Amino acid sequence: MEIKFKINGKDVQLDLPAEKRLVDVIREDLGFTGTKIGCGEGECGACTVILDGVTVNSCIIPVFQVNGRDIMTIEGLMESGRADHIKESFLKHGAVQCGFCIPGMVLSSFALLEKNPHPSEEEIRTGLSGNLCRCTGYKKIVEAVSAASVKGGK
Ligand code: FES
Ligand code: FES
Repeated sequence: MEIKFKINGKDVQLDLPAEKRLVDVIREDLGFTGTKIGCGEGECGACTVILDGVTVNSCIIPVFQVNGRDIMTIEGLMESGRADHIKESFLKHGAVQCGFCIPGMVLSSFALLEKNPHPSEEEIRTGLSGNLCRCTGYKKIVEAVSAASVKGGK
């Protein structure tokens, strides 16, 4: 099936099996390996991308569903510079250990702060509840997002 969509600001057109998982297309066909595969079942958030402004788990989306739509991966977000304050805050607060969950965490944090620039701790925990981290115990991640929300200053 011929599929066209936008990813990180660029138009792409690919001939793909309609049911191929979006995460595999992103990683294998397009080389954006910042999108990780953890559970492969929509539970861990490692494969988070932003689709038309909303975070989704790309491991449970067949690629035909993104025809004509707009995707942003962690690479696109970082290149845009729009999440520099989040990145700096994660580093400053020691919120990164193995790093596997971090692309998804940063995308979800970005989406949360876009919607709610000054979230409470509870709102941050809810906003990141779809992203699992096996290393940090979440405390430092929540602190980092909270500090980034102040810095973002919207
Ligand atoms: Fe997609 Fe876990 S790999 S949610
Ligand atoms: Fe290792 Fe989150 S830092 S899974």
